[in-house]
Amino acid sequence: MLNIAIFGSGSGSNYQAIAEAIERGTIDARIVCVLADVEDAFILERARKLGHPAIYIDCAPFKTKLDDAAEARAIDVIKDNGGDFIVLAGFMRIVKPGLLNAFAGRIINIHPSLLPQFPGLHAGQQALDAGAKETGCTVHFVDEGIDTGAVIVQKKVPILPNDTTETLMNRIHKQEHLAYPEALKKIAENKL
Ligand code: GAR
Repeated sequence: MLNIAIFGSGSGSNYQAIAEAIERGTIDARIVCVLADVEDAFILERARKLGHPAIYIDCAPFKTKLDDAAEARAIDVIKDNGGDFIVLAGFMRIVKPGLLNAFAGRIINIHPSLLPQFPGLHAGQQALDAGAKETGCTVHFVDEGIDTGAVIVQKKVPILPNDTTETLMNRIHKQEHLAYPEALKKIAENKL
């Protein structure tokens, strides 16, 4: 069984989709805690409603990464809650070697593009700007690069002529909510 710690920064809709899939018995896993680097992130509210420990990790003064103290605190919280696997679900910070080494090969992320296309921020806008005809989402293992680790699941979505970032991201989100549970199921069943 996977004992999952979720990391997020925003709405947490992917976390919710994973929690619902576990609840339905689709994935042999449990969510042991939910960590966020944004104190009022909606993902923490979802966690409180779903009965998972909801923990704010203060990452000041850095904006884009976990500082050493925040990283050490995150590792303690995960271990205290019995976590052995990390799922980044809209976590908008770079994970550094301390955490990567503590959970080697056991951290995954979801990104709103067909990696290696459009890594980094604003992937939906990047796809529109590039005039792409399709994009999608990717669940992948996290390594030291930005959105570079081995791919687990990808799902495609078309880009329609009148798409805005919002309409495109809504379409991608629907596929993300299928892709993340599918990827976790594969990992839980050792089917990679
Ligand atoms: C998702 O679209 C995910 O792909 C993206 O943040 C969103 C989180 O949504 N992640 C990244 O861009 C990471 N580079 P959610 O909070 O509703 O799950």
